[in-house]
Amino acid sequence: MRTENGRIIHLADYRRTDFVLERVDLTFELDPTATKCTSRMLFHRRDDAAADAPLVLDGDELTMTGLLFDGMSMEPERFTEEDDVLTIRDLPATGSFEITVETEINPEANTKLMGLYRTNGIYCTQCEAEGFRRITYFYDRPDVLCVYTVNIIADRKSCPLLLSNGNFLGGAGYGEDLHFAAWFDPHPKPSYLFALVAGDLGVVEDAFTTMSGREVALKIYVEHGKEPRAAYAMDALKRSMKWDEEVFGREYDLDIFMIVAVSDFNMGAMENKGLNVFNDKYVLADPETATDQDYANIEAIIAHEYFHNWTGNRITCRDWFQLCLKEGLTVYRDHEFSADQRSRAVKRIAEVRHLKAEQFPEDAGPLAHPVRPTKYREINNFYTTTVYEKGSEVTRMIATILGRDLFKKGMDLYFERHDGDAATIEDFVKCFEEASGRDLSQFSLWYHQAGTPLVSLSSSYDQSKGRLTLDIEQMVPPTPGQSAKEPMHIPLRFGLLSADGSEACPSSVDGAEMTGDVLHLTKRRQTVTFAGIGARPVVTLNRGFSAPVNLHFEQSPADLAHVARHDSDLFARWQALNDLAMPNLVEASRSARAGKAVEVNPLLAETLVMLAADPALEPAFRAQALALPSEADIARELGSNNDPDAIRAGREAVLAAVASAGKATFVQLFDAHSPSGPFAPTAEAAGQRALRNAALAYLAIAEATPARAAGTFAEAGNMTDLSAALTVLAHRFPDAAETARALETFRSRYADNALVIDKWLSIQSTIPGEAALGRVKALLQSPDFNRKNPNRMRALVGTFAFSNPTGFNRADGEGYRFLAEQILEIDRKNPQLAARILTSMRSWRSLEEGRADHARNALRQIAAADKLSPDVSDIVERMLKG
Ligand code: TRP
Ligand code: ZN
Repeated sequence: MRTENGRIIHLADYRRTDFVLERVDLTFELDPTATKCTSRMLFHRRDDAAADAPLVLDGDELTMTGLLFDGMSMEPERFTEEDDVLTIRDLPATGSFEITVETEINPEANTKLMGLYRTNGIYCTQCEAEGFRRITYFYDRPDVLCVYTVNIIADRKSCPLLLSNGNFLGGAGYGEDLHFAAWFDPHPKPSYLFALVAGDLGVVEDAFTTMSGREVALKIYVEHGKEPRAAYAMDALKRSMKWDEEVFGREYDLDIFMIVAVSDFNMGAMENKGLNVFNDKYVLADPETATDQDYANIEAIIAHEYFHNWTGNRITCRDWFQLCLKEGLTVYRDHEFSADQRSRAVKRIAEVRHLKAEQFPEDAGPLAHPVRPTKYREINNFYTTTVYEKGSEVTRMIATILGRDLFKKGMDLYFERHDGDAATIEDFVKCFEEASGRDLSQFSLWYHQAGTPLVSLSSSYDQSKGRLTLDIEQMVPPTPGQSAKEPMHIPLRFGLLSADGSEACPSSVDGAEMTGDVLHLTKRRQTVTFAGIGARPVVTLNRGFSAPVNLHFEQSPADLAHVARHDSDLFARWQALNDLAMPNLVEASRSARAGKAVEVNPLLAETLVMLAADPALEPAFRAQALALPSEADIARELGSNNDPDAIRAGREAVLAAVASAGKATFVQLFDAHSPSGPFAPTAEAAGQRALRNAALAYLAIAEATPARAAGTFAEAGNMTDLSAALTVLAHRFPDAAETARALETFRSRYADNALVIDKWLSIQSTIPGEAALGRVKALLQSPDFNRKNPNRMRALVGTFAFSNPTGFNRADGEGYRFLAEQILEIDRKNPQLAARILTSMRSWRSLEEGRADHARNALRQIAAADKLSPDVSDIVERMLKG
């Protein structure tokens, strides 16, 4: 199996290898431009493999300098090296034999950041998904597991640190200037989990005693001088280890666990066995340079990578179609961890916001694919929000359907049965079926059918019979390659609220299975009746967002306000507030487009302000309540023919109405939550800051002057408040002298901290309106902008395209033309990064005709370019198709 331009890989073609790889010994002689890698692999032929079947190994841009069979140079007629594949013939039918492959690698020239590369003088590797084949010819696929011994030889001065997976065997000097280190990883693993790091780094050390009393050394490596900024990551790591023992019964399994932070990285982090490699953005934090969001991200990603040790490493994937087996499950685990460490309801609201902002558009556009796809051209393009976030939601639904105890029983069975395996989604689901006795075959459609289901409901209440009836219809929209869909098993958490806010309990339910407060929808259409309901209740649906669906349920503003005020589920209260706001926002955008005055239901502002002021609610929740649906949320609700300028104008009118209705409250909130005492990155303290900064944003509108934000900026004692104030200044008062001064103060204060400068870039790239493009171009041209660094590129170009609807979607199409040029340029160096930034155009078809034409032309311009990477050509072709 291999990915190549134009070639499609199918799940149905899965076949085991003909040979078993028993073990591998790797020796690296590190050099910036000419690293030597010697790989000695011990193989034997499988009993059921043909006796003449050749050994076929994967490569990618390799220079092979030697090939040996049992230590002897191989005759040229026994092998071919063609199209990145090494084929070796005439191998023994029985018994073990050794193949040695010698390659020469240029880490300095590796701009794709896949395989072995250099970042700030540090050698590091990234092998998932298919990076190991850029180091040596190998069975580079997740179902080939073996034990690794790794020897690293390098310059003693520039590389005092030599790291790889597993446990340290020993090291020694080696000649005058060199030294070497040997590592052995006793846990069989696939090649994508291999890692090597070498260089000169500082370290933070700690230890963890596992539940069975074993002592594990913990080490986080960062650039010299940055050690203090790794303290929070270390704390998060220890809490993760403890939590996984307590909640999932999972214990760590090596003597040492290491994390290395690097500044050039294509994604967030990587779970290599015992040696996680991180984008430094998700390790480094202190109050002066990191926001509360940064702290939350660090905690979540440290946990995520650590949790992979069981869900991903001990149990890995049979093939890349099963990616959600490790990613969806591990996201679910890190979500649960954060929920336990922080506020569960607020965490859930943030998750759902993210899911709706990222996954729902993916599922509704040309890039939609099932959680478990059946074909791909470029696997790098399937590390998507569908595989990760929807995959997590699917796991969460299994927990909802089974209940806590049976879910735990199923997880335990999965760990017990599949430890050491390369497993499939079917293996996973089977464990829950066996643990619970429940048939999950209809439920499994969640893995196979793409598209966000739409559930439409209508209710009627019969006073004389004391009966509530719900007519429910579900529909899964067509997606690329899937036109007709089957009805799904949708678990909806559900409640009936009485007029006083208490819960009405039906005496019987007919027409659908109900377990606890979960209503199980399984048919295209079903009518559900609830008997014994004395007075008309208000229905509250999908509490806790138990199913990732769109709901269509006409409820009066009064009913929604009732749920927003009284539901027992905080998530449902937030959702009701959104549902109350949405028709206003949609109407406002229509009015703005038609040039009519915008009217806002006073109940919206009233309810919103009331919740924001309620001292019984936690501040973090109140801050979430104040954040109206975004411009992108409104665009999604409208569905098609979108005009981002009208959406913004309408939303601005609604914001202005809320700001003026709530002005007095916002002043109070702002004053009451002034920072006091030393900074703490706790969820409670972060909530206070979030609420105050939400009030500040409304006050900037109500007061129509930059004074308050400028004052906040001047006094801010931490990055959360500082960047929130700068955002208000830049977005609300882009031309004010105060803004220019604040931007300059910020830039000069943090000029030597690239991660903070990324915030400065993002804030400017998201200033709404036509002028944004000019600013982005100017920033891109500035002499200190480093185009090669993925974080810089994402902060400026990525944020502009993903998060500035009016700036990017300019009516004249200049935003799209700019992006096309950038994509082509980035693609020459780093295809993975280019492909990912390009997905910002995934919703282009829902734009109004003029913009859609410009967008199509820009995509065609990309498609027509020569020497496109498989990554970009796969994305652009899917976006243009259909
Ligand atoms: N497996 C990693 C995670 O989710 C992510 C990952 C996949 C990755 N491919 C990558 C990271 C390439 C960096 C580069 O934790
Ligand atoms: Zn992951």
